Amino acid sequence: MDRIVILTGAGISRESGLDTFRDEGGIWSQVRLEDVCTPEGFARDPEAVDAFYNSRRRELATVKPNTAHKSLAALEAVFGTNDDDTFLLVTQNIDDLHERAGSANLVHMHGELLRLRCMNCGATPRWTTDCHRTTPCPSCGWKNLRPDVVWFGEMPLHMDRIRRALERCDIFVAIGTSATVYPAAGFIDEASGHARTIELNLAPSGSASLFDEAAYGEATTIVPRFVKDFLAENAN
Ligand code: APR
Repeated sequence: MDRIVILTGAGISRESGLDTFRDEGGIWSQVRLEDVCTPEGFARDPEAVDAFYNSRRRELATVKPNTAHKSLAALEAVFGTNDDDTFLLVTQNIDDLHERAGSANLVHMHGELLRLRCMNCGATPRWTTDCHRTTPCPSCGWKNLRPDVVWFGEMPLHMDRIRRALERCDIFVAIGTSATVYPAAGFIDEASGHARTIELNLAPSGSASLFDEAAYGEATTIVPRFVKDFLAENAN
């Protein structure tokens, strides 16, 4: 079976009811990313950052995975549990919709909304409720927790594992991402040349011309169709 790396962005969660970042009315038109998605913003006004992530955590509890998330979990199941990343799902999203759809071989390169990080002991507890400046770390008791999310200017997570999978993959699929934020936006360059590259998006991203193939439309339409066609092509 071919080796496949799939990159997802906010567009795959849009039809579950979560806003994207850069579409009209998106998150960055509602709040300044400098205020809530940078270490400087957190240092300036940690309560505002707490409120931003608390409201997104509450919203996440009200939505469910959609058929695009579920079809990627079904595709992974065909690859079987693999410990050498024959199938690797890399998401830029901090929601847990891929997990709830059943995806397992998954890395959150921008961290997770449902985790906090203690700036004293480094613990990263799972967290589904509100967090405030007075919330104590469950491990060390210090009241200095932050969202376990990668902010602008910070290093994305799991990059060695992602790069190794991109070097070895036969297929790279980018789903629901505007391809504007690095390093994720550069994955197409790392895959093209040796892998078949496919963009699945509502509309052509700025990197559209770099892909071998593309399908445009809503994720809940084009992703299940891609998975169905891929499995038919690879039925042995
Ligand atoms: N189906 C498929 N694609 C969609 C849909 C949909 N229903 N709705 C929107 N899209 C596409 C848009 O066309 C756009 O290309 O999803 C993409 C969303 O782009 P962004 O809002 O920029 O989100 P993303 O690419 O995930 O942003 C990357 O930027 O702000 C940071 O950390 C944040 O992880 C995020 C990163």
